Amino acid sequence: MPSMPQTNNETTISTENSKNITKGEEHKKTWDALVYNKNIKSDEVLNVYKTWATAYQSDMDKVNPKKSEHVAQFAAELVKGDRKNPADLTVLDVAAGTGSVGVELVKYGFKNITATDYCQEMLDAAKEKGCYKEFVCCKFGTVTPKVLYPRKFDVVVMHGGFAAGHIPLSSLHTMARLCKKGGIVINSMSLQYTHFVEEYMDIHSYIQYIQELVEAGIWKVEFTRVLDNCMADRHALVHAFRIL
Ligand SMILES: C[S@@+](CC[C@H](N)C(=O)[O-])C[C@H]1O[C@@H](n2cnc3c(N)ncnc32)[C@H](O)[C@@H]1O
Repeated sequence: MPSMPQTNNETTISTENSKNITKGEEHKKTWDALVYNKNIKSDEVLNVYKTWATAYQSDMDKVNPKKSEHVAQFAAELVKGDRKNPADLTVLDVAAGTGSVGVELVKYGFKNITATDYCQEMLDAAKEKGCYKEFVCCKFGTVTPKVLYPRKFDVVVMHGGFAAGHIPLSSLHTMARLCKKGGIVINSMSLQYTHFVEEYMDIHSYIQYIQELVEAGIWKVEFTRVLDNCMADRHALVHAFRIL
């Protein structure tokens, strides 16, 4: 079990219904546009990230610079449990953004990491981190992106890809298809979206979808965990799957 990422309470992001302190009006507007507009469309989301790309990492770091560590830590634990060396494995980071997950994956010994995201500006910022081998700029959804092919990766991870107007729930199946049999898929999302965004509205239907893929023989669930206060007052809901 990884140590819980710590929240920096001195510099938390303000939200319209949270008790946290405002850090900057522009930042607050950007954040609220994504977090509280449940009807936001994918192209509007893309426009937000295009303009936010250069400030995204520093804005997130103010809340919790280690917010993505748990994804890498869980991935490393699972592959080491399989007696595999992270350095020998291929990893796909879906909705990679500016590369928070990639930075942490490298710390845990992963070396061959591909980043995919539909926002080129976010990927440009990720490139500067020097942790990814390849970059694939494309929309991720219900079909396998053309430049990626099924069963290509040992590990497929996503952190923060599920939010209003972002990546559809059925992308979990796409992630499974991109992963080799016996490989690992990890998804970490804000628990609040399972109550707020229609697609993830209640946690039971989310789990039901996961169960459908269990019954279809796509994967087995390695674990489901909730990490409290991963991002200020937001909890992370993490699922890890073994691809069958
Ligand atoms: C909240 S950020 C998370 C970034 C990074 N994983 C992290 O943890 O900091 C969400 C990312 O998802 C990307 N995204 C949203 N919808 C997408 C889609 N349909 N296809 C590909 N990327 C998408 C955005 O461009 C953005 O970089």
